[in-house]
Amino acid sequence: MACCHHYYLLAEGNEAAFAIDVSSITFGHGVLKEAGEHARALGMTRVALFTDRTLAALPYVAQVCESLRAAGLDVAVFDESRVEPTDQSFLAAARFAAEGKFDGYVSVGGGSVMDTAKAANLYVTYPAEFLDYVNAPIGKGKAVPGPLKPHIACPTTCGTGSECTGIAIFDLLAMQVKTGIASRRLRPSLALIDPATTYTLPKNVVAASGFDILSHALESYTAKPYTRRAAPGKPGLRPMSQGANPWSDIGCEAALKLLGQYLERGVNDASDREARDNLMYAATLAGIAFGNSGVHVPHGMAYSVAGLVRDFHPEGYPGDEPIVPHGMSVVVNAPSVFRFTACACPDRHIAAAGWLGADTRGASDDDAGEVIANQLIAMMKATQIPNGIGGVGYSKNDAPALAKGAWAQQRLLTNSPREVTEESLEGLYLGALAYW
Ligand SMILES: [Fe+2]
Repeated sequence: MACCHHYYLLAEGNEAAFAIDVSSITFGHGVLKEAGEHARALGMTRVALFTDRTLAALPYVAQVCESLRAAGLDVAVFDESRVEPTDQSFLAAARFAAEGKFDGYVSVGGGSVMDTAKAANLYVTYPAEFLDYVNAPIGKGKAVPGPLKPHIACPTTCGTGSECTGIAIFDLLAMQVKTGIASRRLRPSLALIDPATTYTLPKNVVAASGFDILSHALESYTAKPYTRRAAPGKPGLRPMSQGANPWSDIGCEAALKLLGQYLERGVNDASDREARDNLMYAATLAGIAFGNSGVHVPHGMAYSVAGLVRDFHPEGYPGDEPIVPHGMSVVVNAPSVFRFTACACPDRHIAAAGWLGADTRGASDDDAGEVIANQLIAMMKATQIPNGIGGVGYSKNDAPALAKGAWAQQRLLTNSPREVTEESLEGLYLGALAYW
């Protein structure tokens, strides 16, 4: 059941090939100390190191700086990357990068920091109007003209997978919408992943980022198959969100099995290093997978859950501003969405639930939506995730506005295995109000 080869049926006029962009990754304890050697090998001499204020005070940034300087490189630190970056904070980072005339980028932090470095690298290397590279229909979706400067990404959370992807997410302030820039050119040249960076993360942060990993793997695995897209006119037009494919399936399956085994342990016991190491590896596997397939509706819906937040202040997150952390904003939608998408590929939903730990014996296709939703809900409860979008401050009256925001995320919605309309999005938000 789990192999699902029939998912990739070739059809006249449709896509018949999938593309694999492999990330360069060095994974393991102590790898941040190798940053200098890797940077030099990539031809860097003058490095812009991106981080944020909180991380700047932790030892990882010092470790990376020390390694870069020991390798004879000049380093300038930008510690004003914003958690939940905006177009304005991207532009501030790009101004810093332009003034410094750097020939290489290093990022030490979570998805926000890595995305900020990607954006700064892009706008300094190929200056343009800000919206030119932003995903359509919000921006112009123009192609990045050529390769960027080398970028070494060092993640310090176990979630976003940004170190393995060509995506940079931000809030477009003027439109009050979250959107992104997506191009293979944005993928970091190298990811240096030290799982020990997760040992000091607060419980709530591990829960949110852990469900981000889970959603990456589950959405990628259940995405529309690449064979259902029309064939591209030429290879360069093959989208990065190309849909589920046999390569991404491998990473998704491995990540989901690790999450079934370690998510609850890693959240609830900070001293469980085996669990946190494995969560970081699951994040890497899921990042490789969804970087080559794309996610779909739960992520699309998350943009407005995060963007329209009013007064939610989760524990473990700094700052006075209300925030729904990314992974949390995704997973609160997930049970509702997978109940909806299950009929498009029930065997995939059942297989994934089994990998996450559900007893799927005797489950029929008709049960697929409930089987996966119930497994997700059990895991959310066990890790103190809020109870649906109601748990982060929304009511049924918010559904139309949330659906309007999500409808703009066409890059993600068109990757859904089942067609989504603005009306069905409203229904999905209503189904996500509360699960228990
Ligand atoms: Fe995500």
